[in-house]
Amino acid sequence: MAIFKININRIFDFIQKEAFDAIQTDVNLAYNNLIQKTGEGRDFLGWLQLASETMSSPLVDKIEAVAKKIQSQSKLVVVVGIGGSYLGARAVIEALSSNFHTLDSNGFPEIIYAGQNISEDYLFELLQLLDKKDYSIIVVSKSGTTTEPALAFRLLKDHIEKKYGLANAKERIVAITDKQRGALKKLADAQGYETFQIPDDVGGRYSVLTPVGLLPIAIAGFDIRKLLQGAVQMEQELYTSANIADNPACMYAAARNMLYRAGKPVEIFVNFQPNLHYFSEWWKQLYGESEGKNHKGIFTASVNFTTDLHSLGQYIQDGLRVLFETMLLIDTPKHKLNVPFEETDADGLNFLANKRISDVNKMAALGTTIAHADGGVPVLKIEMPELNEYNLGQLIYFFEFACGISGYLMEVNPFDQPGVEAYKNNMFALLGKPGYEEKQKEILRKTI
Ligand code: PA5
Repeated sequence: MAIFKININRIFDFIQKEAFDAIQTDVNLAYNNLIQKTGEGRDFLGWLQLASETMSSPLVDKIEAVAKKIQSQSKLVVVVGIGGSYLGARAVIEALSSNFHTLDSNGFPEIIYAGQNISEDYLFELLQLLDKKDYSIIVVSKSGTTTEPALAFRLLKDHIEKKYGLANAKERIVAITDKQRGALKKLADAQGYETFQIPDDVGGRYSVLTPVGLLPIAIAGFDIRKLLQGAVQMEQELYTSANIADNPACMYAAARNMLYRAGKPVEIFVNFQPNLHYFSEWWKQLYGESEGKNHKGIFTASVNFTTDLHSLGQYIQDGLRVLFETMLLIDTPKHKLNVPFEETDADGLNFLANKRISDVNKMAALGTTIAHADGGVPVLKIEMPELNEYNLGQLIYFFEFACGISGYLMEVNPFDQPGVEAYKNNMFALLGKPGYEEKQKEILRKTI
């Protein structure tokens, strides 16, 4: 059974129940295309049974062994990657870590990130930090040719080789890349780095349960076997039926597509705790990059509540009525904290005395749900008992599976990302990359 509950009741203020039930025919088609691998992008469905295959392979042992070695030699680990090559790891690590983990030595290396931007200051300050710390590098790029991580890795490789010497440096670098192709694969082989493969049939944003996510997560001290077990459990559950009422992924995919068809093209992913910020980032990429095609698709956004109730809350309550929300709610926090009683009650909060902070947060979530629904914003809810590896494994697989169904319902290929090339081509042309001369002339004509 799914450890979380999905509640879509509030969409029926906006959509007729009969119309919702009628989408089952489309869902059946999408579901069959996904699990029988007959739909568009069928060559990128390796993630479907990845967790169960990985659990029964020696790969987990190898990941844990490499993680142990890195833990023993480094206080900091830089994960170099962008998009699907870093967001999954970061989502899980941040969700499970202390909010103040950068200040709190839990005995495991601190994971930091590079290659996800081209900021000179970010990279300069990173190198300054690395001057003072023992570190290792995990460089992740499926294609091996993505500019941002390649640029960051060029700087980091130079730094680590100067700091530790060539022979020792290569003991501190792990490359995670394609099996055969790409510059990173060639470099890793030539230098003798430890390597892991990203399966050919798994795209970046579906790769968190490959070494791309599993190695950094294991290094950060979390149990990747439990993460995989959660995903396997969800895999088994979602394979049993396409029925919207029984299959939570089909239910979610159907609900968001019906809202889209009813004039709600923006989905806001909502959390009520800050350590889920990167889970939202991962979700945004998964759905945004999978569905935003052919001038179609739900635009994915995210907010951290209650923080953003004091900024975007106004727009959500009262702005253009094109929004719906998906809330991820965690029932039981890791820690317990009650509101203290205060003799003078200067702030007037004694009516909350002895209540748990999480009870206040829960009422904020409920109050927000009612206010937003009343204001014309349908709210879907995913309610999870607690944050741990097993539950996150379930949730990750659930969202991946639902994304495949949802993309097919929208009649797009959810497994490619052709639009990502447009900015790269312009950037290369502007920077004078050989082979881009014609493009450069074309762009310069436009910019004059
Ligand atoms: O989901 C995707 O395919 C993308 O987000 C990629 O992960 C991202 O562009 C990085 O690509 P690569 O791993 O080839 O460097």
